[in-house]
Amino acid sequence: MAERRKLIAGNWKMNGLKRDGLDLASDLAGRLKGAGAVPFDMLVCPPFPLLFPVGEAIADSPLALGGQDCAPQEKGAHTGDVSPAMLVDAGCRFVIVGHSERRQDHGEGDAAVAAKAAAAHAGGLVAIICVGETEAERDAGREQEVVGRQLAGSIPEGATAADTVIAYEPVWAIGTGKTATPDDVAAMHGFIRRALRDRMADGDAVRILYGGSVKPSNAGELMAVADVDGALVGGASLKADDFWAIATSCR
Ligand code: PGA
Repeated sequence: MAERRKLIAGNWKMNGLKRDGLDLASDLAGRLKGAGAVPFDMLVCPPFPLLFPVGEAIADSPLALGGQDCAPQEKGAHTGDVSPAMLVDAGCRFVIVGHSERRQDHGEGDAAVAAKAAAAHAGGLVAIICVGETEAERDAGREQEVVGRQLAGSIPEGATAADTVIAYEPVWAIGTGKTATPDDVAAMHGFIRRALRDRMADGDAVRILYGGSVKPSNAGELMAVADVDGALVGGASLKADDFWAIATSCR
């Protein structure tokens, strides 16, 4: 079985001003440095305006930086958009694409997500591609069909384990305090693993994160599930103590 180092990613969403972001990132960077060898990679994804200051503050630490979205284009007349090269310039190594809030609020479908991931790859970023079913889809027993379709449509040609991470985030678990049970997570992550193996030569080495109300009290059992290679954390990533507790629950 491929060795997969866990990735603990914080998605700050639209939260925090400069001082908050600097305090949080510096706190985490200091803990990481002080901890020495840890069995996880740690990533924070602040809002766009905070990327440069946070990137500078953590530049000499192992804490990685990521964007929450990127444009599918390289540059040009795309008002309000941010290119992969701009993210790299700010110090990013990762970018989240296809988060369910982008899919819902901005009407991004699988083809748009694949185009963004392809642009991220071309720009030298690791794309964290998000998938996940709604509550109605799960209630109808269609969660694997939905996630299978999202994977097929959202992963660009040529993706590899080096430039792609999958985040499974059931929409009904995001920000709701409801989490999928370890059994449900095991079933879905196993399904995603098989789909990745079919699709990619190194599908075994792709990291698959779980996201949706991950917190210190449930992280240990979720991170111990087979094929769970880390977490994408929203709310609990805004508190250094909680995010650190989630990360250190990895073994
Ligand atoms: P949550 O968000 O941890 O607040 O549920 C997760 C996410 O949307 O990435």
